[in-house]
Amino acid sequence: MGFRYLDVRRDGSVEHVTLNRPDVRNAFNDVTIKEITWWADAVAAKRDVRAVVLGGAGSVFCAGADLEWMRRMAAYSHQENLDDASDMARMFLALDKLPVPVIGRIQGAALGGGVGLAAICDIVVAADDAVFGLTEVRLGLVPAVIAPYVIQKIGRSAARELFLTGARFSAQRAAALGLVHAVVAPSSLDQTISAYLADLLAGAPGALAAAKHLIAECGRRTTTESATFCAEAIAERRASAEGQEGIKAFLDKRKPDW
Ligand code: COA
Repeated sequence: MGFRYLDVRRDGSVEHVTLNRPDVRNAFNDVTIKEITWWADAVAAKRDVRAVVLGGAGSVFCAGADLEWMRRMAAYSHQENLDDASDMARMFLALDKLPVPVIGRIQGAALGGGVGLAAICDIVVAADDAVFGLTEVRLGLVPAVIAPYVIQKIGRSAARELFLTGARFSAQRAAALGLVHAVVAPSSLDQTISAYLADLLAGAPGALAAAKHLIAECGRRTTTESATFCAEAIAERRASAEGQEGIKAFLDKRKPDW
């Protein structure tokens, strides 16, 4: 599929997907949403992609929802608005459920839905001069479909502050909140991401997918409810070909075959 607002590039087993609408700071509209969802579903089915880097072209990672598109939608019926918003919710769900690790590359700003995109990433690397903000209330909106992902990352207390004030905050604050994992000079973004990629590629692909699934499942269960699920997870893994190969490689003092 040819994309209008997405740039997709493969580098070995790493897929780089870049929002490519820099004239509006990569704000996303209905077309972008369809393209990202299509891309995410396709990547989830590919066995040869082992990691994804999600970025934005130009000076800003993502300025959130396209406010021109939002303005147009205001004239549509409630059902049409609901269908449209559901498409956006499906996009975030598809990204969140990706079985491969996703690294977010944040330069300039991540605002509104841009924070939502950062929140669905497993690892976020941000430039030290990047600004973040859940600015929706200042536009008379709410950070709605991104709320579950953002709240999971920053917790309800920070969500109360940041959803309600709409205030912009620094990359350092985003890191303190757990939204960002590394804050680096803008010129060091790619180098830092390469180091993370090297770590990710050292792990077994099936184990990484299982680890993502484990985190998601444990997040919505009590410790009691998690016990059986987690016991099954390790029982399955150590008997798997990857688990056996990984353990054998360690004991044989050699690199595993993935
Ligand atoms: N939707 C639609 N257009 C947007 C946009 C958005 N979310 N964010 C930026 N743009 C457009 C601007 O209207 C401007 O268009 P123009 O060139 O036709 O005037 C263009 O992108 C460049 O924006 P500008 O503000 O001049 O760029 P900047 O680099 O100085 O600042 C931002 C970038 C992202 C910090 C700033 O644009 C901003 O604060 N945007 C609003 C983001 C927001 O609140 N998003 C939440 C949406 S729910």
